[in-house]
Amino acid sequence: MKKNNTVSLQEYNTFGVAVSTPLFVEIKSSLALQEKLKDEAFKDALILGGGSNILFLADLSKPVIKISIPGIRIMNETEQIAVVSAGAGVVWHDLVMWCVANNLGGIENLSLIPGLVGAAPIQNIGAYGVELSDVFYDAVCINRKTGESRIFNAEDCDFGYRDSAFKNDLKDAYVVTAVRLALTKKNHRLKTDYGNVNETLVQMGVTKPNIEDVAKAVVQIRTSKLPDPKKLGNAGSFFKNSIVPKGKCARLLLKYPNMPHYHIDGAFDKIPAGWLIEQAGFKGLKKGKVGMHDKQALVLVNYGTSSGKLLWKHAKLVMEGVEKKFGISLEPEVNLIS
Ligand code: EPU
Repeated sequence: MKKNNTVSLQEYNTFGVAVSTPLFVEIKSSLALQEKLKDEAFKDALILGGGSNILFLADLSKPVIKISIPGIRIMNETEQIAVVSAGAGVVWHDLVMWCVANNLGGIENLSLIPGLVGAAPIQNIGAYGVELSDVFYDAVCINRKTGESRIFNAEDCDFGYRDSAFKNDLKDAYVVTAVRLALTKKNHRLKTDYGNVNETLVQMGVTKPNIEDVAKAVVQIRTSKLPDPKKLGNAGSFFKNSIVPKGKCARLLLKYPNMPHYHIDGAFDKIPAGWLIEQAGFKGLKKGKVGMHDKQALVLVNYGTSSGKLLWKHAKLVMEGVEKKFGISLEPEVNLIS
């Protein structure tokens, strides 16, 4: 869709924010990407995957390279393990479904996470007790300056909670073109004790779950709590859960004995930001066409044609409310692009 020689990005971001770019190209192979990176006009381009973890604050002055590199295949295998390679442009959930259909275990808990494969290592996607780093083999990346291909193993990626080197030291330095995962072919290690996965399996009448059952349970939980970006603009969790010093968590527990919290290590605990936002009174509260979702307070929702600026304004209001009530600064999980 073009207006005044610019290209609209509305259908390329799950918030559905109508911003534009002066130049847009879709790339379907790593060779084509290497060529495009040589082109001066695309030097500072924004690399876009599924647009499911970004909030555009204004029209872009820079070009956009949309990564649509396809393909899923088994790269090599032993009796126990298969290494599956997926192009950066593969829809993440399609990869999960492909693996489940081929009886390859390890990512069934990550069903229905929006976005494309290429973005998965950037923020080390995770859900229901599993993170990408648990199954990550390596990623093929292209150096944006030199066009050279390099393979990053897990150590190079320096994964953390919703974090990796690609968000820090290597920010904007590489483009991921393929991700390879080491998955189990048998004796799958199911993780069902997180949240209400077990409970959902019981409700489904499943007593001896396989990876397909776990995927189905996760899909059921996610669809019951999280809004479908095709119907309501959103980017999943807008904030990260809060990591706070143990002393701070203990002080808050004296005042709020029912506050959910999780042990991280000897020094820190994690407090769910969704709980903080709900307690601060923002869950389901709409301001015009913006609000935090009524079933999961961590999800910022575009209920209409809200601009990125209005969405961000609301997010800041929520941050102020939580800061005032709990003395905790929420950190956006979604990337803000201006
Ligand atoms: N909670 C509330 N109110 C809410 C939401 C949550 O009190 O409105 C409480 C829940 O009762 C529970 C706790 O917060 O005690 C945790 O809630 P939940 O299990 O729903 O998960 P979350 O911590 O809010 C994280 C991820 C999600 C992921 C789920 C399940 C982050 C930022 N978010 O949410 O990831 O699906 O766990 O594993 O870590 C995403 O990244 O986009 C995303 C959706």
